[in-house]
Amino acid sequence: MAANLGIQTVGEAKELRGLNLIAAHSHIRGLGIDIERLEPRASSQGLVGQLKARKAAAVILQMVKEGKIAGRAVLMAGPPSTGKTAIAMGIAQSLGQDVPFTMLASSEIYSLEMSKTEALTQAFRKSIGVRIKEESEMIEGEVVEIQIDRSVTGANKQGKLTMKTTDMETIYDLGGKMIDGLSKEKVMAGDVISIDKSTGKITKLGRSYTRSRDYDAMGADTKFVQCPDGELQKRKEVVHTVSLHEIDVINSRTQGFLALFSGDTGEIRAEVRDQINTKVAEWREEGKAEIVPGVLFIDEVHMLDIECFAYINRALEDELAPIVIMASNRADTRIRGTDRQRSVHGLPVDFLDRVVIVPTYPYNQEEIGQIISIRAQEEEVELSADALALLTKIGKETSLRYGSHLITTSNLIAAKRKANVVAIQDVQKAYTLFYDQARSVKFLQEYESKMIGDDGAAEMGLGGPDAMEM
Ligand SMILES: Nc1ncnc2c1ncn2[C@@H]1O[C@H](COP(=O)(O)OP(=O)(O)O)[C@@H](O)[C@H]1O
Ligand SMILES: [Mg+2]
Repeated sequence: MAANLGIQTVGEAKELRGLNLIAAHSHIRGLGIDIERLEPRASSQGLVGQLKARKAAAVILQMVKEGKIAGRAVLMAGPPSTGKTAIAMGIAQSLGQDVPFTMLASSEIYSLEMSKTEALTQAFRKSIGVRIKEESEMIEGEVVEIQIDRSVTGANKQGKLTMKTTDMETIYDLGGKMIDGLSKEKVMAGDVISIDKSTGKITKLGRSYTRSRDYDAMGADTKFVQCPDGELQKRKEVVHTVSLHEIDVINSRTQGFLALFSGDTGEIRAEVRDQINTKVAEWREEGKAEIVPGVLFIDEVHMLDIECFAYINRALEDELAPIVIMASNRADTRIRGTDRQRSVHGLPVDFLDRVVIVPTYPYNQEEIGQIISIRAQEEEVELSADALALLTKIGKETSLRYGSHLITTSNLIAAKRKANVVAIQDVQKAYTLFYDQARSVKFLQEYESKMIGDDGAAEMGLGGPDAMEM
């Protein structure tokens, strides 16, 4: 914690990352790029084909890794299920440990809890990391004795902790919080521990070698370490990366730490953000912090409206801006929030002007076959050769996504007849049970008069118009 810098940060929130990975892309482990030549491999890390777009993604990745170029916008444009989201996931997987990646589905903007610009601001600030170097005061040594006095009711705990290095020994007074911490970590005499003075965090480093006689009593996984020498109190440099948004949340008084975990952050006041920006700028000047521009991925970007685009346009020019990657499957469409202003990909012309466009193309039969078989492996479904061939054909003729959805359903049908391997008949059955888009449209057209129309009207009865008169 950066208590000594006046603004709090959180070091361990990184575990939250990855929660928004979607199961449909769980087979993707990276971009599948030969790093040295920056060339995509035909099939690697779960990605197949789409070589040009993957190469472009690798170049973007390189830019992000160098951390110098921010405020650029990239648009991935192509028909549905051509791997736009998949490639973005590949980028996310290949980013360094502490480089933030935020995924935003455009519809998330339209929430009742906060304004569109607030939601966008949060998404932008989640995508910018601040790598903070801090010196913290640590007490590091071997525990000689822990002595705890409990009052009769057990409510007031007090105690003393004796710690030593090879050169000195000191007795510390313990409060209730430290006592709880020690018992939670199961600290005993003979353990070598470190205590962060500002947060009270206790870390067990191992057992002291002088106690190696107790080996039998401790079990095989015990790590033995030397008793430290020198002073008990040391200054240590720790580095951790947090996003600007995390700093915002913790420092907005009404919300605080818990909001980070509940995700229930609400709107954050502009003054809080201004203060934090100033503070971060100060830290940078003093060499205490570095900015790590990350990636903001906005999926189905044509769902944004003209106000959002104006916001993004401006936000990209900010000094603290991430790289923004967007995906759209629209060609020429009306821009949301306008009456009839049309534009390519649903993006306003002035905004289009500043993005570089990466196209994605439909897959050929072979690539579809490979993707479906990777998905089957991922879902732990075994397909017979002809089942795979049929799924591939279906995938090619309808859509890749429909084809890969049939993997699970065919498997359920196979399980019903107690088979371990999906056969062609299971796929056929699944195909008749679940419609793809084209058949669904045909079905709807045939029964159009019976469906609820745009105006809410529907015909009842079975026999056409005459039936109602009877
Ligand atoms: N090149 C690829 N390699 C492996 N899987 C892919 C590839 N392209 C798409 N997929 C998978 O196919 C499905 C549809 O692709 P998706 O990325 O969602 O398409 P889009 O976002 O372009 O509509 C997803 O499950 C995705 O992971
Ligand atoms: Mg997508």
